[in-house]
This record gives sequence, C-alpha cells and structure tokens, in this order.
Amino acid sequence: MKTSLQKTTSRPEKGGRIGLFIVFEGIDGSGKSTQAELLAEKLRRRGMDVVRLSEPTRGKWGEKIRELSKSSDSLSPREELDLFIKDRREDVRKNIRPALEAGRVVILDRYFYSTLAYQGARGISLEEIRQKHRKFVILPDVVFILDVPVSTGLRRIKDRPVIYHLFEEKEYLKKVREIFLSLPDPECLIIDGRLPAEAIHRKIWSILCRKFPELK
Ligand code: ADP
Ligand code: TYD
Repeated sequence: MKTSLQKTTSRPEKGGRIGLFIVFEGIDGSGKSTQAELLAEKLRRRGMDVVRLSEPTRGKWGEKIRELSKSSDSLSPREELDLFIKDRREDVRKNIRPALEAGRVVILDRYFYSTLAYQGARGISLEEIRQKHRKFVILPDVVFILDVPVSTGLRRIKDRPVIYHLFEEKEYLKKVREIFLSLPDPECLIIDGRLPAEAIHRKIWSILCRKFPELK
C-alpha cells in the first residue's frame, strides 16, 4: 500500500522545498481551530511560512453556504454536497495549491473528510463523495481527527451560532463522529480531543516531528 507521502508526490514543489499540508478535522467543538492556531504559532516561531485556511471558506461559495443555512428551508443533501465541493474546488485552485507551490505550510481547518462525514451522515454514499473529489483534491500529508463525544463538542460551542439546525442534531452528530472514526485513509490520525488543549498540542507536535524530522 502506498503511504500518504508517496501519494502526494504529485504535490507541487518549488525551489527544492515542498510545502507541508496539514488538516484538522472533527465534529463541531472538537478543538480544531484551537489546535490549528497553536500549531501555526509554533511553526511561525520556528521561522516557517504558514498559511491558515478553513472550509467553508470566506469565498463566494462558502458565504453562500452560510447564507443558505440561515434560511428556514434546509438544503437537500445533494445541494449541500454540490456547494461544499464548489467551495473546495475554488479553495484548492486559489489558495491551497498556490501556497504549497510557494513552499508554504498550509494548515487547513476542515477538508473533504468533513464532507465524507457530514454529507455522508445525511445519506450520500462515501464512494460518491470520494468520486466527486478525485479529480481535483490535493491529498494532505497528515490529517488530525480530533475526537470528542458529541456532548462534549456541543457543550463547548453552546454559545456559538451554528450553521446546521438539523433535527436531532445530537443524533446527526453522532453519525458524523462515527464516520470520522471509520475513515480508512492512511493520512488520518485520530487524537483524543478530551485532553487539555496543551496536551493535545504536545501530542500533535511529537507526531509531526516523528513524521517530518526536519521540523525539529
Ligand atoms: P472547533 O474549531 O473544532 O469548533 P474550537 O477550537 O473553536 O473548536 O473550540 C471550541 C471551544 O472549546 C472553544 O471555546 C475552545 O476554547 C474550547 N476548547 C478547545 N480545545 C479544548 C480542549 N482541549 N479542552 C477544553 N476546551 C477546549
Ligand atoms: P465550521 O467549521 O463550523 O465553519 P464556521 O465556523 O466558519 O461557520 O463549519 C460549518 C459547518 O459546515 C459545520 O457544522 C460542518 C459543516 N460542513 C459540512 O457539512 N460539510 C463540509 O464539507 C464542510 C467543510 C463543513
């Protein structure tokens, strides 16, 4: 079986330096943006050129997703899928690929694994979702899936306006979590998100240093 790094050898290179592509995933409130920020700061202190991105983006499709999710008529799973893919295609073309080509470190909060988990939990087959991404995604070097029980995630974000107002949100998020935990992709590593943020950060850093000794 190929390793994730072998699979990414088609990733753009420049000046002999390959940009590193790191993704954070997990249910809402799992601690993704906290960890993305801690890691970005650490890498910047080491003089690395880091770009932090997130999906849904602040581009036209990402904003459309936010706007539509506020209205009372909910989108069908396929309409939702279509919008997330349009947003991602644009993110890869405008942001991710150029940053990696420039040798930067890309830290991305949510990627196609979120689509597998969230739109998969709405009934779309994971194979169909993967198929729709096959032609355009750049595979990350490593994906940290921060895992917390749904009740923990929801407790942490109880004051935040949520994009999704699905019925039985808790049941829905349980399905989302199960899909995250079942992903077979070798680049995905599951991390216990219940630990204190600093402890999670140390764990992530030690994994990264083992995988990429040049970071130390
Ligand atoms: P996400 O980006 O996955 O939605 P955030 O990083 O925004 O999650 O964290 C959600 C909330 O939980 C924030 O208030 C944050 O300060 C808090 N938080 C993040 N990580 C932890 C942790 N490991 N333990 C306890 N609280 C955390
Ligand atoms: P979130 O990370 O909360 O973005 P923001 O904080 O900018 O609003 O993502 C919003 C919601 O979108 C979240 O509940 C997960 C969902 N989502 C999907 O359903 N599919 C996807 O492909 C992505 C990227 C997100």
